[in-house]
Amino acid sequence: MSLKGKTILVTGSTDGVGRFVAERLAADGAEAIVHGRDRARGESLVQQIRKAGGEARFFRADFASLAEVKSFASAVRRSAHHIDVLVNNAGIGSAGQGRQESRELSADGFELRFAVNYLAPFLLTRLLLPWLERAKEARIVNVASAGQQAIDFSDVMLERGYSGARAYRQSKLAQILFTFDLAEELDGRPITVNSLHPATFMDTTMVRRAGVKPISTVEEGGAAILKLVASPALADVSGRYFDGLKEARADPQAYDKSARKRLRALSFELAGMPDPLAA
Ligand SMILES: NC(=O)c1ccc[n+]([C@@H]2O[C@H](COP(=O)([O-])OP(=O)(O)OC[C@H]3O[C@@H](n4cnc5c(N)ncnc54)[C@H](OP(=O)(O)O)[C@@H]3O)[C@@H](O)[C@H]2O)c1
Repeated sequence: MSLKGKTILVTGSTDGVGRFVAERLAADGAEAIVHGRDRARGESLVQQIRKAGGEARFFRADFASLAEVKSFASAVRRSAHHIDVLVNNAGIGSAGQGRQESRELSADGFELRFAVNYLAPFLLTRLLLPWLERAKEARIVNVASAGQQAIDFSDVMLERGYSGARAYRQSKLAQILFTFDLAEELDGRPITVNSLHPATFMDTTMVRRAGVKPISTVEEGGAAILKLVASPALADVSGRYFDGLKEARADPQAYDKSARKRLRALSFELAGMPDPLAA
């Protein structure tokens, strides 16, 4: 699809693969909505894009707070007539900001990785759906991971047996369950939603913070994300999971309708919103 004149929001585009993707989209003619927590880095990316002749705007929001997600969605809705593509990319890794094995909580008291990596983009997507519907054709791209672990519905907030890796993997699988569930809901409407593992251990802050030696580049992961954003061949493809450039199978829980239903109900409850499909 041509990117000229498209409005594309990339969350977590102040760093890593999100930054690469926002730069590339703007270079190809899209208006990039840049997001992150660090205003200085966000504004500097916007300046860089504008200097190169592109269009961009920055919004600051910490996804560890659902109130900030709501204000962010409102600010985006005020500033854009519609959104063509939403790339849910922002995230924290297994090591996050703190020590790997110390359980952290969001401002709302939820396990931090579940909140930032899953619940925040769930809420943002829900709040921006009417703006995606205003586009002729829209896409949602959920940047998940090959690191996945089944959600234990009796302990979603990981009060028992916590590890940073488990928290990260659970949040990433939750994004995929959400992708499949939303694709079903949006069937017949001109919005597609897909998820992917961009690339393994790209050279980014998240990977370096975990003390892992990078084995791929942001260019490789970025190419996989850009394919889901813009490939004409994927115009009608929805509800899939990709590993890099190829379609792949996710953890079996993603194909379990009852698990998706449980996660959906929990997510609406935690986000404090009514489910539009609930009777
Ligand atoms: N790196 C890999 O090898 C790899 C592999 C599989 C999947 N992924 C996924 O790819 C996505 C990007 O990862 P990356 O490696 O590019 O990470 P990164 O370089 O650490 O960048 C993460 C981005 O997310 C933002 N972010 C982090 N916490 C946030 C919060 N609480 N609120 C709002 N924004 C927040 C960061 O903003 P700040 O600038 O404010 O920190 C930054 O822009 C993630 O979803 C990750 O799970 C990465």
